[in-house]
Amino acid sequence: MAGSIADGLPGVRIRAALVLALAAWAVPLQAQPEGFNYDESAVPAYELPEILRTADGSAVDEPAEWRARREEILGLFEREVYGAAPPAPPEVRFEILDEDAGALGGLARRKQVRITFGASEQAPGMDLLLYTPAGAQGQVPTFLGLNFRGNHTVHEDPSILLADSVTEDGVRPGSEEDRGRSASRWPIERALERGYAVATVYSGHVDPDFDDGFRNGVHALRPPRSENDWGTIAGWAWGLSRALDYLQGDPHVDGTRVAVLGHSRLGKTALWAGAVDERFAIVISNNSGCGGAALSRRRFGETVERINTRFPHWFADRFNAYNGREDDLPVDQHMLLALMAPRPLYVASAEEDLWADPRGEYLSARHASAVYELLGRQGLGDAPRPPLNRPVLRDIGYHIREGKHDVTAYDWERYMDFADLHWRGDGR
Ligand code: GCU
Repeated sequence: MAGSIADGLPGVRIRAALVLALAAWAVPLQAQPEGFNYDESAVPAYELPEILRTADGSAVDEPAEWRARREEILGLFEREVYGAAPPAPPEVRFEILDEDAGALGGLARRKQVRITFGASEQAPGMDLLLYTPAGAQGQVPTFLGLNFRGNHTVHEDPSILLADSVTEDGVRPGSEEDRGRSASRWPIERALERGYAVATVYSGHVDPDFDDGFRNGVHALRPPRSENDWGTIAGWAWGLSRALDYLQGDPHVDGTRVAVLGHSRLGKTALWAGAVDERFAIVISNNSGCGGAALSRRRFGETVERINTRFPHWFADRFNAYNGREDDLPVDQHMLLALMAPRPLYVASAEEDLWADPRGEYLSARHASAVYELLGRQGLGDAPRPPLNRPVLRDIGYHIREGKHDVTAYDWERYMDFADLHWRGDGR
């Protein structure tokens, strides 16, 4: 399959020139790491592996054939990219540490749940923070995502337990100064107002974000035994599945309507969680870039070599084999996106986030659409690449908003519109 899908402008050359001219005019030059390609005209020619053709070369043209092809693709990502994770441990403990039916000035029911992966005191674990709308009748749909710096950073609520973090230099106790520090990324009151619950877990509780040879965090449960075993992204995704195990038993949550979302490295994680665990009913990637939604073969912004060098713990060791050799990968990221089908999938980009290759994120969603269409769903189709701040909401949703690499109120509003559309039948 050729790697260029028209995006509504005539002629590839003219299009590239136009894009560049517009980009130079509209995008204030941003600090992006130097020494990488940000020039659309310098994207190499590439051929994407075909999603709808099996390893032995047969075409997949019936919906019933998709399952087997899906297994094949999932296996390739597991072995070559993220690494295989173990199943859930036989004994996972859920302990309610805190419950308040009148939290956030009466708007929410707050719960904090310690989830421990095993029977022993030393077993690794994580704390889940959950807000459900106080007045909700019955079980509500929920957005679940990992956070970067501790549950206490997502809201100023003084009752959120401070999370310690493990760093290369030792344990750093959670501090009051950080309370609410990431609140702009978690518009919890607004979600409650729109009838959604929000659940989050600190990623560092699942696996600290540095290279320790896979000893700490959930890797302690089963250190990798081969180059194809789980890295940190697979560990984080595994943690999201354990959070979902809890949510599916919570009386206030509709466990069949849990959307998994994540930003950047945690967006890569949300996608891998959604691929491995089909209980996630909607999957949302916010600015996930390289190793997330963006096509690796474009080598625009972050590259496979750079991500493996700078973050050697994120992927299976095997992924290093593709440093500087993207064309040898048996998969590309459009195939990861296709693993969500037929479930609703949302991919979001930001204009100034060139490191994450917004255009590569869009093209990937566009190529994944073939599987949605095979299954009778609506992908991005032939519509032109949408302009800034003009979301497309189908079974695949997409937007590119103005601004930087971040999760904003604008992004959340679109994710809730998308969930309304799919879960409440609000056509718009
Ligand atoms: C770095 C990394 C990206 C990642 C980002 C983040 O920029 O290179 O791949 O997405 O961190 O997680 O914020």
